[in-house]
Amino acid sequence: MKSSATGIERIFPHTDATGQKQPEHARISMELRGLGKKFLVGAGEFQALKSIDLDVAVGEFVCVLGASGCGKTTLLRILGGLEKHTEGSLRFYQEKSGQPPTSIVFQEVSIFPWLSVWDNVAFGLRARHASKALIKERVSFYIEKVGLTPFRDHYPHQLSGGMKQRVSIARAFANDPEVLLLDEPFSALDERNKATLQDELLRIWEETGKTIVFVTHSIDEAIYLADRILVFAGPPGHITQIHRPDFVRPRNLTALRATPEYKRLVGAILEGLGISGEPSDAIE
Ligand SMILES: Nc1ncnc2c1ncn2[C@@H]1O[C@H](COP(=O)(O)OP(=O)(O)O)[C@@H](O)[C@H]1O
Ligand SMILES: [Mg+2]
Repeated sequence: MKSSATGIERIFPHTDATGQKQPEHARISMELRGLGKKFLVGAGEFQALKSIDLDVAVGEFVCVLGASGCGKTTLLRILGGLEKHTEGSLRFYQEKSGQPPTSIVFQEVSIFPWLSVWDNVAFGLRARHASKALIKERVSFYIEKVGLTPFRDHYPHQLSGGMKQRVSIARAFANDPEVLLLDEPFSALDERNKATLQDELLRIWEETGKTIVFVTHSIDEAIYLADRILVFAGPPGHITQIHRPDFVRPRNLTALRATPEYKRLVGAILEGLGISGEPSDAIE
């Protein structure tokens, strides 16, 4: 089945005609082949992404790491069906046809100011006409997971920046997508809030087994979170390196920073980003 609006192919279920799971598809959530994007700019074209080949496994935590302007948001918007790729193909292998393939958490706060925490988190489920019982169960579950139960009736103007981003995360999970897309979701937060939310995200990811694609420009954040780091350069955005930080979880960045493995990885990533010199976190 092909969605004409987004050019995304959605294939489900992961079973063949006899109901047997197809192992090769059961492990793949997303498949990108030669994916590219050209924007029309004035009378010309701007190539924002080029030749991206990638398979993302079900339940994998993938970080896309790259400098500003290299096409990370464009890639995420294409994966989220908000933008259409102009080259190559994009397929989602889904477990169930009734679920949305993706939900996005944006960098900037994108919750509705006129809705309470509860109604914001319930928004996607209501739009899909989910049953009242399911909405109640799912919304209360994820509001609890992000620690906002005492604030469920509050409105966004009564919340801090970190709490608003928690609402976005709860809303994205409550939608029950197969893949969660997060675009620098914590970059506007202070260090303490950022660390807390990273840990909450990891805990929910481990409990739900969702596939996650997380965009960041922070090397430390990518190493802390990811099963696999895709280093991006551009424009046109393309993958320059793939790393699998195999540090045991839960990871402790302070302890990791002292290890030769961590220093080697940061050095390699900096090279992939085209930056030399001492490891630093930000690549503005
Ligand atoms: N709608 C658009 N039209 C034209 N150019 C765009 C559009 N969206 C993004 N771009 C360009 O594509 C490049 C990548 O942008 P973006 O994906 O936002 O990068 P990143 O998220 O890595 O900072 C930038 O040069 C940006 O100006
Ligand atoms: Mg961006």
